[in-house]
Amino acid sequence: MGVAARTIEVFEDIDLLTRRAAELFADCSNEAVAKRGRFAVALSGGRTPRGLYSLLAEGADYRDRIPWRAIHFFFGDERCVPPDHPDSNFRMAKEAMLSKLDIPEENIHRIRAELPAARAAEEYEEELRRFFSLAEGQAPNFDLVLLGMGADGHTASLFPGTDALQERRRLVLAVWAAKLGAFRITLTPPALNAPELVLFLVAGADKAVALEAVLEGRPEPDRYPAQAIQPPHGSLIWLIERAAASRLRR
Ligand code: 6PG
Repeated sequence: MGVAARTIEVFEDIDLLTRRAAELFADCSNEAVAKRGRFAVALSGGRTPRGLYSLLAEGADYRDRIPWRAIHFFFGDERCVPPDHPDSNFRMAKEAMLSKLDIPEENIHRIRAELPAARAAEEYEEELRRFFSLAEGQAPNFDLVLLGMGADGHTASLFPGTDALQERRRLVLAVWAAKLGAFRITLTPPALNAPELVLFLVAGADKAVALEAVLEGRPEPDRYPAQAIQPPHGSLIWLIERAAASRLRR
């Protein structure tokens, strides 16, 4: 499955990567609002995007350029913990960005991962189907999906060797993350491959081996789940910090 366009950009450090991501976020949000009157973005969890969220909400070059009240925030995945738990992706995004802005409550579409995992997944899928007015077999065309990648090549909560990677119908699943000994709620490949733009943010030398496999190795999405993200009708941009890119040949 090819992609409309795949771009790889390497940055000397995380600050330069974050500024580029902020530029793309600002441009993408304004284009979407001009075209559709709203911008639907799925946020990533983990450590890497935290700096981006803070820069967008506080950075003089960005805060006032972004149409905050027309943005609908979704999440690519969530840990099965309450929203105020230190591991919560929602809590991270709220502390770094959402709480600093005047965003209508109904525009923040939180995964209620404190519910029993299967119910949380079903509820979020219903939320996606409602918001995007999806019929059976359709996927949410987010304007932007932000993703990270783990040192094992996972993305969102799509972990190597898990059934979620084969999912072609459901948009949201509850998955058992064996390595973590915990359930996660994650968007599935169909949901993550429908957007206009997918933006990966990858930093850290510990990602270099997996990143080489994902970007330059043979197709093995079951082993390297980030390879499963190939939006056929959208653009795919990888923003990579130098240490993570150290094994890339091209
Ligand atoms: C999560 C993310 C996960 C993350 C990667 C990279 O919930 O943690 O969805 O996929 O993006 O594990 O995490 P870092 O940015 O912390 O390296």
